[in-house]
Amino acid sequence: MATAASIGRPAAALAGKAVVITGAGGGLGAAYARLAAALGAAVVVNDVDAAAARATADAIRRAGGNAIAEPGDVSVWDFAENLVESCVKDFGTITGFVSNAGILRPALLDDLSEADLRRMIEVNLIGTAAGARAAAMRLKAIGRGGSIVNVASGAQAGDVALGGYAATKGAVASLTYSWAMELRGSGIRMNAVSPLADTAMAGQNAHLMALQAAHRQVAYASLPPAEANAPVVAYLLSDAAAAITGQVVRIANRQLSLVSHPMIAAPVLEDDWTFDKVAAAFDRELAARQHRLGLAFAGSGS
Ligand SMILES: NC(=O)c1ccc[n+]([C@@H]2O[C@H](COP(=O)([O-])OP(=O)(O)OC[C@H]3O[C@@H](n4cnc5c(N)ncnc54)[C@H](O)[C@@H]3O)[C@@H](O)[C@H]2O)c1
Repeated sequence: MATAASIGRPAAALAGKAVVITGAGGGLGAAYARLAAALGAAVVVNDVDAAAARATADAIRRAGGNAIAEPGDVSVWDFAENLVESCVKDFGTITGFVSNAGILRPALLDDLSEADLRRMIEVNLIGTAAGARAAAMRLKAIGRGGSIVNVASGAQAGDVALGGYAATKGAVASLTYSWAMELRGSGIRMNAVSPLADTAMAGQNAHLMALQAAHRQVAYASLPPAEANAPVVAYLLSDAAAAITGQVVRIANRQLSLVSHPMIAAPVLEDDWTFDKVAAAFDRELAARQHRLGLAFAGSGS
């Protein structure tokens, strides 16, 4: 487990905080929960796998932290309110919510099933939206601000065999930008992380990684442990991040950065146009300006 000394911050960075972390029975969510608790937060540990949720909460308590397990399926819209209310009931308040639960059903375009796409949308998008919304409503009622952290993915830039999953994560980024705008001035911040870790989910994708690497500028030879991602989530949950909102924070091995925001490039035509004028604009400029597909570094050209 990470200690205050190992992350170079005082152990009290999250003292007085009470947070819900979904999908925290294993993988990244469990690492987020362990570090948040080690830094002083009380943690509601959610997972659809009840035994896994209890195991994470038990381990936190054994290490001297404060945690309860609240098993359940985040894709059930009203369940998010139970998570928020449990936090308030057990810990007296809520200050943060991490919508981490997610699933991956990789499939090439030819093989993607409706059932898999619908389930990824239900868990990754509906589950995230339900959690973020329920938390925001309660934090508004409490009136002391707070921090909501959603989970995007490098796949939001597009990736081979991840079209359905990528769509849900792109949607999470758009939801984060939109709701952070609506929450401006309330003291409630909403950000997302775009993590990278060697987890059970990453294992599902392992057989596709060489194929994916061939299609992107950025490829990762090895995946870091889940723990390497946890300090960023802890930071976003803390008051130290009071000025940070509406961002997707990329965590990849030893690189910490922000994902650049989709923006409109300088117009090449400002006119009433015809088919011929549009075709000429593409011939003259836009065809050569087409954006790179897949994970890449901003400013590295197309
Ligand atoms: N591992 C990576 O490199 C990586 C990269 C980008 C994004 N992510 C995202 O990070 C998050 C965590 O991923 P991980 O790698 O730890 O995955 P994981 O599969 O190891 O862990 C996910 C956890 O979520 C739980 N879960 C699944 N469906 C749920 C539901 N409906 N309700 C509640 N809990 C549910 C699972 O039981 C599991 O414990 C996911 O949102 C994932 O999309 C992971």
